[in-house]
Amino acid sequence: MTPLHQTPVFATGITRLFGIRHPILCGGLMWLSTADYVAAAGRAGGLGFLTARSFPDLGAFRAELQKCKALAEGHPIGVNLYISNRPEANAMLHGHVAVLLEEGIRAVETAGNTPSAFLPPLKEAGAKVMHKVSILRHAARAVKDGADAIAIVGMECGGHPGMDFIGTMVQAPLAAARLDVPVVIGGGIGTGSQITACLAMGAAGVVLGTRTLVAQEIWAKDPYKQRIIAADERASRLVLSILRNTYRVMDNGTARQVAEMEAAGIADFEAYRAHVEGKVQFEAYASGDVEKGMLAMGQAAVFADRVAPLADIYDQLLGEAGRALAVLDATRLPGATEAAARAAADVAAA
Ligand SMILES: Cc1cc2nc3c(=O)[nH]c(=O)nc-3n(C[C@H](O)[C@H](O)[C@H](O)COP(=O)(O)O)c2cc1C
Repeated sequence: MTPLHQTPVFATGITRLFGIRHPILCGGLMWLSTADYVAAAGRAGGLGFLTARSFPDLGAFRAELQKCKALAEGHPIGVNLYISNRPEANAMLHGHVAVLLEEGIRAVETAGNTPSAFLPPLKEAGAKVMHKVSILRHAARAVKDGADAIAIVGMECGGHPGMDFIGTMVQAPLAAARLDVPVVIGGGIGTGSQITACLAMGAAGVVLGTRTLVAQEIWAKDPYKQRIIAADERASRLVLSILRNTYRVMDNGTARQVAEMEAAGIADFEAYRAHVEGKVQFEAYASGDVEKGMLAMGQAAVFADRVAPLADIYDQLLGEAGRALAVLDATRLPGATEAAARAAADVAAA
């Protein structure tokens, strides 16, 4: 039987924008979305984003992109640019933009602060840029400055859910109604039924992070993946709100220590530095000792049930998305058919 990921099911503004088969994106994952993973997302018909910040210098970043292109077998691949609120931490991003354009990459996910300084060279070269936000009001400026799509994440997400804690169920219809570019939804998504629901709410796609941490192509050691597989929906914790930089992470030894410091009212970043440093995360992934480090992980960990090739995870999600469509069809009363047909005609005409 042909694997499900080989056949398109949905055509949306996002599949058209990026020239991909499925509106299922794999967002940037610091340290983890390397060439193997990003290329696998492309081959599965989605789109992955290689995290530029994971590499020590531009040479290493370029080498990883070249490896990724070779593995992607002609499928699109993307780059994630995380924009810090400390300008000095963004100096290297101009170099990342130059390298990715030279390497022919034309799909970019920006996140964090405003991408405005980086949009002109990207747009001039014809790159398509999706800016990721956690609150709708941050989307407007990015769109005005040229972002082609907006990803919006709900508070369920792994990583940075922002300071307002709006759930995905509210973000999706709100962003879809208010923005006139394609909207991608993230945060807590780990089943195909959620994907169908997001599309029904007006989104043009979804972005995953936590659900795919157990992909075979993620290089982190097996104990890390087993911890995610064992996780239930309460296995993450929100920390660092005290620094106005909330982070949803695995509820491990470090997270509990940090939570105690916050409860004690410690508001000086320096006190937290040793816990939040990227190299501590990297070491946890490399050793599999998951008690140390602030390890971004969202509530969707509960849906990650086994280590599998990313293409199999796409197959599972697409199967579930198809079943959700069938459930909707099967539950629709005959009398509602005319209203649904009229609504469908309106959508098609829009
Ligand atoms: C381990 C991990 C690392 C992440 N690193 C980044 C990153 O470097 N840049 C970024 O824009 N988003 C990052 N994210 C966020 C994801 O790209 C994505 O937006 C988010 O995981 C979606 O929500 P979910 O975790 O509920 O699927 C990370 C998420 C995780 C789980």
